[in-house]
Amino acid sequence: MPRSRELFTDAKKVIPSGVNSPVRFFTPYPFFTKKSDGAYIWDEEGNRYIDYCNGYGALLLGHRRKEILKAVSEQLKQGTLFCTPTRAEIELSKLICANFTSIDKVRLVNTGGEATMTAIRLARGFTKKKKIIKFEGCYHGSHDSVLVKAGSGSAHNGISVSDGGLEEVSKNTLVVQYNNSEDLEDTIRKNKDVAGVIVEPILANMGLILPEKNFLQDLRKITKQHDIPLIFDEVVTGFRVSPGGAQQHFGIKPDITTLGKALGNGFTIAAVGGKKEIMDMLSPGGKVYQASTFAGNPISVAAAICSIKELNKIKDKIYSKLERYNVRFTRALDDIANDLNIPHQINFTSSMFQIFFTNKPVTDYSSSKNADSKKFQKMFRVLLKNGIFIAPSQFEVVFLSDAHTQRDLNKTLDSYSLALKSVKN
Ligand SMILES: Cc1ncc(COP(=O)(O)O)c(C=O)c1O
Repeated sequence: MPRSRELFTDAKKVIPSGVNSPVRFFTPYPFFTKKSDGAYIWDEEGNRYIDYCNGYGALLLGHRRKEILKAVSEQLKQGTLFCTPTRAEIELSKLICANFTSIDKVRLVNTGGEATMTAIRLARGFTKKKKIIKFEGCYHGSHDSVLVKAGSGSAHNGISVSDGGLEEVSKNTLVVQYNNSEDLEDTIRKNKDVAGVIVEPILANMGLILPEKNFLQDLRKITKQHDIPLIFDEVVTGFRVSPGGAQQHFGIKPDITTLGKALGNGFTIAAVGGKKEIMDMLSPGGKVYQASTFAGNPISVAAAICSIKELNKIKDKIYSKLERYNVRFTRALDDIANDLNIPHQINFTSSMFQIFFTNKPVTDYSSSKNADSKKFQKMFRVLLKNGIFIAPSQFEVVFLSDAHTQRDLNKTLDSYSLALKSVKN
């Protein structure tokens, strides 16, 4: 890809490492994207890829969904930024509250990281306590409180606590093992100063790791017993796993929820919502400060309203279709890897999956880290060469979208077959 190589050389002169988010980099250089549509993305040379990176899960309805483009085009005629309240913000907030029964009130923000930062501040403000408990491998954004033994790009790049992050902050973040509620209970017992527990209900930042039976129920029980707010970070799972997120899927009500990604289907928007008594602590009514110029901007709000309405309209079809595609695909992938005698694990649920090159089940941070990442990188490269774009790390997830067709998946399986053969050699 000479054009992308040239652009990368140029980019590095003015952009640190040539990318605006670390997960976008891969060796020797990432491809540069020119356009996207539906299930596809095209690089600067004109190569087309079937896209399973999918805006890291944001594009549940696919690239350039026509209903969303129409809603945004209509809004463009009315204005792009008002910094005053709008009727549309009420409509969107009501839609979010209707879909997520644990949410009485919601504040709109721009990114998932901003949402988790606010959720944690709210938990601290509400309890007047300091410490936060998070789970190994869960990724909640790139702010100090949560960038401790986090997944995603920080695990990929071997960063457990970031340089420049304050030890005074990270020491107030206690880290426990995912899928281990005894570890959580022990940690709470030993620490009287816990303000909140934050978790990805389905861990989608160490590859894909599913909560084991009763893990989430236990979290709810333990946090209730100790009067500690439970924060579900549904930035990935919100709207993707069901219209009401993982909490609807598992039948658990957290105290605070963060949303992002699929909320705006490719437009910049996120949200933090929860119980009225917690949310009312936000400024100006309360004393927990949170603010942003672009929060609730009319373009993103229009996109999010349309995304939720569209999802609610097609919910009886989309979730079962994507799950069916996923089950069929991962079964076939498993057969191919078995035929080739490649030690592997495939974790999947709803519209997400990941393959790990290991013979041990992947249930937490260390089992995911122990999988063979070199084999994964090899597979990634062959997939790319054969027109398939997945996120370039085993600590990410393969995302299906409503735009993927059975034909796309058949072609994808052929490419995976070639990629697995190369892994074996
Ligand atoms: C579960 C989860 N929470 C929070 C975030 C941070 O979101 P953003 O990148 O929009 O700040 C991410 C990003 O991948 C995520 O996966």
